[in-house]
Amino acid sequence: MEKKTFYNQISIPPIGYGVYQITDQELCEEYVVQAIQSGYRLIDTAAAYENEEAVGRALKRCGVPREELFITTKLWVSDTSYEKVKDAFNRSLKRLGLDYIDLYLIHQPYNDYYGAWRAMEELYQEGKVKAIGVDNFKQDRLADFLYFNKIKPMVNMVECNPLYQREDDLTYLKENEIQMLAWSPLASGKDNILKNEDLKKIAQKYDKSIAQITLRWLYQRGIVPLVKSTNSQRIKENLDIFDFELSKEDMGVIAKLDQGHTCFHERDTAEKVNHFLEQAFKFNV
Ligand code: A2P
Repeated sequence: MEKKTFYNQISIPPIGYGVYQITDQELCEEYVVQAIQSGYRLIDTAAAYENEEAVGRALKRCGVPREELFITTKLWVSDTSYEKVKDAFNRSLKRLGLDYIDLYLIHQPYNDYYGAWRAMEELYQEGKVKAIGVDNFKQDRLADFLYFNKIKPMVNMVECNPLYQREDDLTYLKENEIQMLAWSPLASGKDNILKNEDLKKIAQKYDKSIAQITLRWLYQRGIVPLVKSTNSQRIKENLDIFDFELSKEDMGVIAKLDQGHTCFHERDTAEKVNHFLEQAFKFNV
């Protein structure tokens, strides 16, 4: 598993295990232990996932030294301001039982994310985080963000999967030496993508599953997928993508599956943003 290196020379494993919506604390702890013992070294959580403590317990139990692990967590909207970042960061650190975070992200582009970034730059300069980045930033917001900030994000984590491929966003990130991380790499199985006939043919050809083909396709585009599974066999299966290479032709077949829009809900009206923000303040972060 060859790592990817950010522009600040910090390296990240090429695939991660994500714990979004795994809210049962005991199960979450179990899955993270299984994931690490299966070989994952990157674990992706967030204050808003409400499972940092479970992840922390798993990190203690897993038997792998801290320095071999790469832990990502995220600052929630209600804490996205200069004044609130350090407290929020310390709460995350405490819940995770860690004394530094490998990658700290602004979870959503709302509230005072410029102020928050200043505080995150300070955490970075103090060595409390090895890398800082953003999540769910579209190209226009990111361009503005890059224009007015001193330290460029090392990462943008966005939805990316065969139904929403974001080739133009990827190109933009690569031009700016920002690593793309992909959430929902399997499109959460939407539109029957995990039963798609084109993917099935490719999977048969390489003797792999559709999920493995999808994760490999992301990897070959230079993207780090954060995949979630609550099944031990699939947790292992999703990591087994480094012993084959998709041909250019097969990459081209997958490229044609792009629908060019999110598989979830586009938050593109005032009403949707207002609704989201109202909900955002209900999280226990
Ligand atoms: P399960 O937890 O039962 O394995 P995404 O990361 O795109 O949101 O997708 C997560 C969904 O994909 C989960 O519902 C998960 O279900 C399913 N999933 C994860 N890995 C696989 C796999 N290898 N094959 C089929 N489904 C998978």
